[in-house]
Amino acid sequence: MSNRPLILVTGGAGYIGSHTIIELLASGFDVVSADNYANSSARTYERIQQITGITVDHEEVDLNQYENCKRIFEKYPRISGIIHFAAFKSVPESVANPYSYYSNNLGSLLHLLKCAETFAVNQFIFSSSCSVYGNIQSLPVSEQTPLNAVESPYAATKLMGETILRDCVLASEKLRGIALRYFNPAGAHPTALNGELPINAPNNLVPVITRTAMGLIPSFTVFGSDYDTRDGTCIRDYIHVCDIARAHVMALQALQENKITTRFDLFNLGSGNGVTVLEAIQSFEKMSGIKPNYKLGERRAGDVMAIFSDSSKAATILNWQPRHSLDEMMDSAWKWELQLAKERV
Ligand code: WQD
Repeated sequence: MSNRPLILVTGGAGYIGSHTIIELLASGFDVVSADNYANSSARTYERIQQITGITVDHEEVDLNQYENCKRIFEKYPRISGIIHFAAFKSVPESVANPYSYYSNNLGSLLHLLKCAETFAVNQFIFSSSCSVYGNIQSLPVSEQTPLNAVESPYAATKLMGETILRDCVLASEKLRGIALRYFNPAGAHPTALNGELPINAPNNLVPVITRTAMGLIPSFTVFGSDYDTRDGTCIRDYIHVCDIARAHVMALQALQENKITTRFDLFNLGSGNGVTVLEAIQSFEKMSGIKPNYKLGERRAGDVMAIFSDSSKAATILNWQPRHSLDEMMDSAWKWELQLAKERV
């Protein structure tokens, strides 16, 4: 029997979840993953094994059924912490189908929190998003920036999720919680053996660029070139997925070592660098030597013009600093796309 703390990672077969499992295993934790493969594949566990040499316990489960959640905690009584990634995450899809987003994203969270109370699991890390800030004028955004109205049901589920976690923590004897607000996750594992693998057509910029460069997409559209920015295209804060994964481990360690003075807290996870869409494309071209086909087109509904982070709170309290540059995100994303092409032959 291992004496390493056992952490339940929900959505562990997904993009950020799988990279976080790799980081947890390297940091002295054991992991059990729960995923229903709605937007992921069990093949990811083989990729984790290839990288770490460890086959993590994993359960195919729909967390929207309380009994399913309960069975995980009964089967793994050693669980001492939860990192909850499992959620639907497409902004346009959430606008088209709000019921499934509220039901799935909030239902699974509530069941996990009920189990945390029932099974005395006292550390809970929640996957939140910069989209909770809405359309912000004053940049960079810090955790003290007043929130504007959210722009989608997806973002609403993240904001409600933070509130639900906070209220459950405050009502509990021992539960402690942290919400992590990701900016734009990008890039892939440095081994090129794991990365972003959207089950359907990707919405996010970086996989759209790499799949276009690979010839899987004939060309893509830059959504809007008439914004009031330095080159007319939207500004975002891209943050390497491995930096995000490391932040989850540091947040868990902070809870374990009682470094967080409040029962609930939340942190931005961004690079602090605002990058335009054209600058992101230029970085990709520099790192890959490939000019992907694109055209300048109409704005995309729901896009904010610019957002980037002040993540100094995570630096101060969690001692977390991003380590990877935009070029490294593009380089690792491209090497991952080349690996996927090799697997397809
Ligand atoms: C980035 C920029 C697009 C595709 C989303 C979620 C957010 C968070 C991160 C989870 C925008 C432009 C994109 C394309 C383009 N998710 N773009 N052509 O919308 O900033 O944020 O992912 O935490 O909650 O909303 O990411 O990658 O879709 O877009 O021009 O084909 O790239 O307009 O300016 P977004 P994105």
